[in-house]
Amino acid sequence: MSVRAVVLAAGKGKRMNSDLPKVLFEVAGRPLVAWVVEAVASAGVEDITVVVGHGADLVAGALPPGVAVARQEEQLGTGHAVRCALDEMGDLAGDTVLVVPGDTPLFRPESLRSLLDAHTGAATLLTAEMPDPTGYGRVLRDGDRVTAIVEEADATDEQRAVREVALSTYAFDGPALAEALERVENDNAQGEYYLTDVVGILAGDGVGAVAGADPDEVQGVNSLEHLAAVEAAMRRRILSAWMRSGVWVQDPGRTYVDAAVTLEPGARIYADTHLEGATSVAAGAVVGPGVFAVDSEIGPGARVWYSVLRSARVGEEAEVGPYASLRPGTVMEAGSKIGTFVETKATTVGKGSKVPHLSYMGDAVIGEGSNVGAGSITCNYDGYQKHRTVIGDRVRIGSDTMLVAPVELGDDAWTGAGSVISRDVAPGALGVERSQQREVPGYAARRARKAEKKEG
Ligand code: UD1
Ligand code: CA
Repeated sequence: MSVRAVVLAAGKGKRMNSDLPKVLFEVAGRPLVAWVVEAVASAGVEDITVVVGHGADLVAGALPPGVAVARQEEQLGTGHAVRCALDEMGDLAGDTVLVVPGDTPLFRPESLRSLLDAHTGAATLLTAEMPDPTGYGRVLRDGDRVTAIVEEADATDEQRAVREVALSTYAFDGPALAEALERVENDNAQGEYYLTDVVGILAGDGVGAVAGADPDEVQGVNSLEHLAAVEAAMRRRILSAWMRSGVWVQDPGRTYVDAAVTLEPGARIYADTHLEGATSVAAGAVVGPGVFAVDSEIGPGARVWYSVLRSARVGEEAEVGPYASLRPGTVMEAGSKIGTFVETKATTVGKGSKVPHLSYMGDAVIGEGSNVGAGSITCNYDGYQKHRTVIGDRVRIGSDTMLVAPVELGDDAWTGAGSVISRDVAPGALGVERSQQREVPGYAARRARKAEKKEG
């Protein structure tokens, strides 16, 4: 017997009130449907077909490689969606078909596995007791036997009181499913071909249930409120795993770590930190409070606080912030510093070099052991093009230096504070561009007399 999975992901998600297909909304940086596909694959199912329809190309493009796609041109209901998948899947003789909804990202692989392990006969469904079953299909039983699922819109008051709900998650005997789907009609409140009706059709052949699924795990996303609740649950799950591995997290309720982020044991994360995309934090690094980092690498023992990092690399023992903005292409070598109110872009700060205060460094290379004085900036843009600034080793840049690129400062060069440096400075030389200071004696007294006259 081989298991083949169908993931339902063709719906628009009307209740999201958005143009984005529902299954592409992200939780911890990963689309809903990608979470589901991953859970199915981790449950050991290799043959996966995703039904796409609304925003088909977008959804298909978000799927991991190796997943088959079936198109449901018109969204005529979950039963119709499964039919579209089966049309693509060919002969089902001897196969079990696992059906899962594409909007349920918290599903654990173990839960899908236990459904498959329990499955015998025509169909087995996963159910949960929901404290509030509103919106779900209700499971109707005759003792241990499941007799039907009734959708909320079609249910009687008595049926609505049932708290055991269907989760759109089933294991079917392949041929039995195909046959039953032929018999599903759309004469219901929503005018749709319901997959749930298959259960009633197959009831006579024996439908089992794996009850008691964890309500937190089976929460589907039908609205932005659901999305936020699911995001919070996923966040707790991700952070718990990191804490178990030895990452210190000050306040998990105020820490946001995407699924693709990696943290080494011994990393320390303070509150209000957002780590997104392919960000990594090495052992001994201290991040936060108040850090937003996307696709960035934070090295061993680095210290980053109250700052924004985008595609930046922070080397070992380097320091960032408070209030620094590291834009793409920023590379900080070991022991370097980017300090308060400093912005960098496409800039390398060499080993032990410092840009401590109020600077902009763009399209620059700074060598080792150099210091950029407060308020200095690279004038890298001439209004048409960007130009490079090259700063050697052990360079001392005086405060408020304007480095008009393209310009190069040799090793051991200096610049005078307040200089506009538009020509290269030779190694070991001082570049200074500054007018002579004048002194006007007795100025204050003269001003005071002038003011008195006016008033008098
Ligand atoms: C469905 C179930 C309901 C169950 C609930 C939660 C039916 C009729 N109802 O209701 O019993 O309690 O899920 O699991 O099955 N989809 C398609 N094509 C369609 C319609 C939907 O691919 O034509 C996909 C959606 O993208 C979604 C999934 O099927 O991923 C479920 O659809 P949704 O509209 O959310 O169904 P519910 O009303 O929640
Ligand atoms: Ca749903």
